[in-house]
Amino acid sequence: MINLNHAVAFQHVLWDQQLKEAQTIVDMTCGKGLDLTYIAQKALKKASIFAVDIQTEAISLAKKRVNGLHDVHFIQASHSEVLPKYITAPIDLAIFNLGYLPTGNHAIHTQGATTIEAVKALLKQLAPKGLITLVAYPGTEAGAQEEVELASFLRTLDQKQYDVSYWSPINQIHNPPTLYIVKGR
Ligand SMILES: C[S@@+](CC[C@H](N)C(=O)[O-])C[C@H]1O[C@@H](n2cnc3c(N)ncnc32)[C@H](O)[C@@H]1O
Repeated sequence: MINLNHAVAFQHVLWDQQLKEAQTIVDMTCGKGLDLTYIAQKALKKASIFAVDIQTEAISLAKKRVNGLHDVHFIQASHSEVLPKYITAPIDLAIFNLGYLPTGNHAIHTQGATTIEAVKALLKQLAPKGLITLVAYPGTEAGAQEEVELASFLRTLDQKQYDVSYWSPINQIHNPPTLYIVKGR
């Protein structure tokens, strides 16, 4: 059943399709590893999975959570700095769950400028028909600002090269998370 209640769950339907063939997958904000666990359980055994986070705390929580599910290459760095330095293969699926680590320091929040830099680097390395999903959090001031910047950048992408779309619940109070989707054509 497709979950139409929350962007984080709704995106699974897109990942499921992509994971059937994806060879190289990157979680650009692995946090405590919930999204990564989903990916690790569904990815092909031979797929390469990379997980990036700027915080030591996130990397160690995510490592523990996915232990034994799939090999994962962890990279502690800003996602704006990992491509092509640490990952050189064409990328079939890249995911971002923006914002902050709920159990950690809320000041360590993703930023529009660095998120956009990371997306630009990804677009150069995206495999044919590659997919990028980004969950944004307009319910906080920093998250709302980041979403405005991200959306205005994504709107400029060439429609001949990418299908770019957006999904959000529209009858929920408190500005629920929203999902941005970029698919190579
Ligand atoms: C909402 S959490 C991610 C949730 C995670 N995907 C999960 O399933 O648990 C956002 C994460 O982004 C990380 N982050 C913030 N700025 C970053 C940056 N420039 N590069 C990489 N990660 C960053 C934070 O440390 C935090 O862990």
